[in-house]
Amino acid sequence: MKQIAEDIFYVGVDDTKLDYFEGQFAIPDGVSYNSYAIIDEKIAIIDSVDAKFGEEWLKNLEEVLGGRTPDYLVVQHMEPDHSASIKLFTDRYPLAQVVGNQKTFVMLEGYFGKGFPANQLVVKEFETLSFGKHSLRFIMAPMVHWPEVMFSYDIATNTLFSADAFGKFGALSRKEKNWEDEARRYYFGIVGKYGAQVKAVLLKVGSLEINRIAPLHGPVLEGKKLSSAIHYYKKWAAYTPDAEGVLIACSSIYGHTAQAAARLAEELENRGQKVKVIDLIRCDWAECIAQAFRFPKLVVAATTYNGEIFPAARNFLTGLAERNYQWRTVGFIENGSWAPVCARQMRARLEECKNLVFAENTVKVRCALNDESVEEIKKLADELCK
Ligand code: FEO
Repeated sequence: MKQIAEDIFYVGVDDTKLDYFEGQFAIPDGVSYNSYAIIDEKIAIIDSVDAKFGEEWLKNLEEVLGGRTPDYLVVQHMEPDHSASIKLFTDRYPLAQVVGNQKTFVMLEGYFGKGFPANQLVVKEFETLSFGKHSLRFIMAPMVHWPEVMFSYDIATNTLFSADAFGKFGALSRKEKNWEDEARRYYFGIVGKYGAQVKAVLLKVGSLEINRIAPLHGPVLEGKKLSSAIHYYKKWAAYTPDAEGVLIACSSIYGHTAQAAARLAEELENRGQKVKVIDLIRCDWAECIAQAFRFPKLVVAATTYNGEIFPAARNFLTGLAERNYQWRTVGFIENGSWAPVCARQMRARLEECKNLVFAENTVKVRCALNDESVEEIKKLADELCK
């Protein structure tokens, strides 16, 4: 098992078979369910793994335990991708204490039945638990991503165990691509709604010296990767874009809306703007959401369908609103062969969002581009370049 710091070992597992994480996020490169072991005078295990991998996880534990038995199982997060194997653990190691906060134990009973677990150790904000050389300090991180979430900080090695925060999709056995791309898709898909809470916990850990972050998904972050990840998290928690330019998110049935989107891209590029165009029908929905948060400006191009917004665009806008999309400029291109009406409805989908500026110029395409709609595209391009 891989050692990540003095006396601290990675004992997690890779899931390369799962198609959709949480039943909705496509994970072509799988995902890892991380767990860690601190082997000191006393032994602490940090989090368990998904139910499908319980036995594999126990085997990993045996490898680092060297015949000893764990004294503690620290439960940072109760979502079943991390908590489902807790009962397997307590059956194997009945004397170990399960460490969590008050909310953790309410959920443990919910999942495993009244009175579970028998050996409970309730910890509070900033309390520490010593194992010998190592001590964990617990930092509550409510709603990052569930209410019971807590981080744990090892004072001896300056290791921050960050639960879901700083995680990403992708099994550890797969070749790692850019950390930020899959981490952004993971962040905005899963915790994007809770920017205020992420910001609050970043503030709480801001005064700590941190040598590495050990999340519950994805790689342990150290050195340049660590500073880069913190840089991105500060931006994402504040809903600040991390790229420049305009994202054009387009859904087109016969190609005419796509032509309007392409023409807008050309006009914007001619005016010196960086532009990215995505196809809302074919691009993974969570990637579309992540891209919308990446850029400061967004134009949604969609067809009117059954007097409503075409489904791919409707779902996209709903997903943005659900995740507190904010601090952006938004414009619209609507198409409709006989009654283009979806721009108003698209705007209505975002009406509850805070700090959005809507472009005054909307492009209306009837069937296909013509001189009038091209003129509107130019006006929208001018406005977005102001
Ligand atoms: Fe990885 Fe919120 O569970």
